[in-house]
Amino acid sequence: MNELNAYWVFTILMSFILIASGKYDPNWDSLDTRPLPQWYDDAKIGIFLHWGVFSVPSFHSEWFWSEWIGKSPDIVDYMEKNFPPEFSYQEFAKDFTAEFFNATQWAEIFTKAGARYVVLTSKHHEGFTLWPSRYSFGWNAKDIGPHRDVLGELNEAIKRTDIKFGLYHSLYEWFNPIYRADKATNFSSQDFVDGKIIPEIKELVNNYHPSVIWSDGDWEAEDTYWRSTELLAWLYNESPVKDEVVVNDRWGIGIPCHHGDFINCKDRYNPGELQKKKWENAMTIDKDSWGFRRNAKLSDYLTPLEILTVLARTISCGGNLLINVGPSKEGIINPIFEERLTQLGNWLKINGEAIYSSQPWTAQNDSINSNVWYTSKDDAVYAIDLEWPQNNTVILGSVGNLFKTADTVVTLLGNGGKLKWALNKDRVEIYLPDKAIVNSDTAWVFKIIDNKL
Ligand SMILES: *[C@@H]1O[C@H](CO)[C@@H](O)[C@H](O)[C@H]1NC(C)=O
Ligand SMILES: *[C@@H]1O[C@H](CO)[C@@H](O)[C@H](O)[C@H]1NC(C)=O
Ligand SMILES: *[C@@H]1O[C@H](CO)[C@@H](O)[C@H](O)[C@H]1NC(C)=O
Ligand SMILES: *[C@@H]1O[C@H](CO)[C@@H](O)[C@H](O)[C@H]1NC(C)=O
Repeated sequence: MNELNAYWVFTILMSFILIASGKYDPNWDSLDTRPLPQWYDDAKIGIFLHWGVFSVPSFHSEWFWSEWIGKSPDIVDYMEKNFPPEFSYQEFAKDFTAEFFNATQWAEIFTKAGARYVVLTSKHHEGFTLWPSRYSFGWNAKDIGPHRDVLGELNEAIKRTDIKFGLYHSLYEWFNPIYRADKATNFSSQDFVDGKIIPEIKELVNNYHPSVIWSDGDWEAEDTYWRSTELLAWLYNESPVKDEVVVNDRWGIGIPCHHGDFINCKDRYNPGELQKKKWENAMTIDKDSWGFRRNAKLSDYLTPLEILTVLARTISCGGNLLINVGPSKEGIINPIFEERLTQLGNWLKINGEAIYSSQPWTAQNDSINSNVWYTSKDDAVYAIDLEWPQNNTVILGSVGNLFKTADTVVTLLGNGGKLKWALNKDRVEIYLPDKAIVNSDTAWVFKIIDNKL
């Protein structure tokens, strides 16, 4: 065989091997080469839903069961005062009634919020599945509680909109005896992963075609125990969502912040600096809990300005915002959450062009006499201002070459008309209309176009 023939034989052989084995190998080096599906970077805004049996006590947080067993004093006291001594957590499930759950209404709320994806807790650490899983007999929303496939209903309602449907999934289950037996062997036994976790995730993916798998509960064991890389290679090579799906980074000890289509690092991660890898800020409107809390106070909820502050900082630094609300056991998205989401949506109706499909700009922020975070898109730079400046004059210091010629045009989104500006050494002063005639009362966006660029 001459060299050229050998080359072709090798190339053809390699192609067969690649086709047979799929594009990605079950190791992080290979999985990390997968390009991020573009929809996810464009989407920017997602809604996170924590719903499950923990929504029945709706007290303390979605960690209720674990922290009750761990003797958290407020939960022990609550249970002693309100329930008979032999009451078990499992008995809450029959009161997860969801009688007012209307998936179409939820989809309408998320549309009004300007969300581009939704992530639902298919199964939290309690192990209860919101779909009729073959692998969770008797401990799922079809067998007990709603007696409905609530996950399936939401999936169908969301898929009738332009919003993508995603699923949170907890790898570990606090009190699953098979998991605990594996743990007792220092995870050398993998009965729980082989018999439950892998088939359960494949069941979810094959039946509901989620666009996001948001993994959690990974932190007690290595990725090798969870068989994470094998699972992801299947997801990327063979699954029905192989081209569209994105996953986060919680796939075993040492993996978060390093691997995955995007990284969450930790809850409410918001570094305030441009990041190299695509990331997401998963955060909550109720500052203290992901699950619904009946006894939350108004001051426990982020204000509209606080939400926009987190949003601007997150998007400027290359992140997506995944904003969490906890529905009630009856299936209601409490009006305080609906109002916050609607306020966000109303702001995005005016200012969304600075957010959706935007890119980080050269500089991220500016705070000479305001609180500005930048984004960019095509030939425009957007300055998102969270604080109306004194004097109706915003002073920007990080504008580089943007104002080198008189051709630069500055407008205020939703307000029409060009704004006057002047250079003052390396700073620019932009003169704003009076606040009283501006079409927004929290956070304003200046669009800057340098026609010479
Ligand atoms: C669910 O909500 C939609 C939209 O608000 C409404 O049209 C529909 O009638 C509701 N379905 C039920 C069963 O109440
Ligand atoms: C458990 O396994 C890990 C690695 O998988 C090892 O580092 C650790 O020493 C083991 N612990 C025990 C108690 O065997
Ligand atoms: C940008 O934001 C960071 C983090 O909040 C802050 O430390 C820094 O001072 C800000 N830079 C400017 C120029 O405002
Ligand atoms: C208000 O504007 C005047 C004139 O442009 C300027 O001299 C002054 O420093 C400004 N004050 C503040 C607080 O920005």
